[in-house]
Amino acid sequence: TGRTRIHHLAQAKERGEHFAMLTAYDQYTAAIFDEAGIEVLLIGDSAANNVYGHETSLPVTVDELIPLVRAVATSAPHALVVADFPFGSYEASPGQAIATGVRFMKEGLAHSVKLEGGAYYADTVRAMVQAGIPVMAHIGFTPQSEHALGGYRVQGRGDDAERLIEDAKALESAGAFCVLMEMVPAATAAAVDAAVTVPTIGIGAGNATTGQVLVWQDMAGLRGGPGVKVAKFVKRYADLRSSLLDAARQYGEDVRSGQFPGPEHSF
Ligand code: KIV
Ligand code: NA
Repeated sequence: TGRTRIHHLAQAKERGEHFAMLTAYDQYTAAIFDEAGIEVLLIGDSAANNVYGHETSLPVTVDELIPLVRAVATSAPHALVVADFPFGSYEASPGQAIATGVRFMKEGLAHSVKLEGGAYYADTVRAMVQAGIPVMAHIGFTPQSEHALGGYRVQGRGDDAERLIEDAKALESAGAFCVLMEMVPAATAAAVDAAVTVPTIGIGAGNATTGQVLVWQDMAGLRGGPGVKVAKFVKRYADLRSSLLDAARQYGEDVRSGQFPGPEHSF
């Protein structure tokens, strides 16, 4: 089968079907998730946390993300590859956003990009789409605004739901091909999905969205261990942390005891 494209995501919504998205930041995970049929791969600015070890997503740069984007795009023959705009790479002007989008597509080989922000960014999205850069919009809880929003909090509760609906409509009118919502009540996400024609994607947004996304290290249980809290919206489908911990411990023991390498590993 061929490449997932933007119109396939639109078709999924028309048909009442769902699609899956995961983050990926390197060759092996990209190839495995692609082989598993995950339709969309996101090189999230969450690489700040999940690759580079920062506490928030704020410090990661375009220069740090581009090699990861290229690794994923090169290793995933079927998925739609989305590169995430990091903090500081698009806010100043539509021109800055176009320049960043061009870099992600030209140097990173991404098929589309994602940016955080609501109706305020409609002009930016419009300019990017005019320039040939497909844009996924990210509303609700937007981690780059953690300090402005007062921490990790559910967005779009009560009267605030109307603001999210207006944001989604403005972004759709500007040409965004998809609206992603993070940490919003399921009922609000359903109302947003109903208010726009474009497909929606949720993370912590209930099950009425067209697609779902998780950070792969959360999905596969690589992140965890003592003192690490996992968000309520995460479901763990594997326990990779335990598997790797066991493997590394066993290897270390075998080396120290002289069990490895054996004759079968020696020339
Ligand atoms: O950076 C990221 O991983 C994301 C997803 C969680 C939506 O933006
Ligand atoms: Na992100």
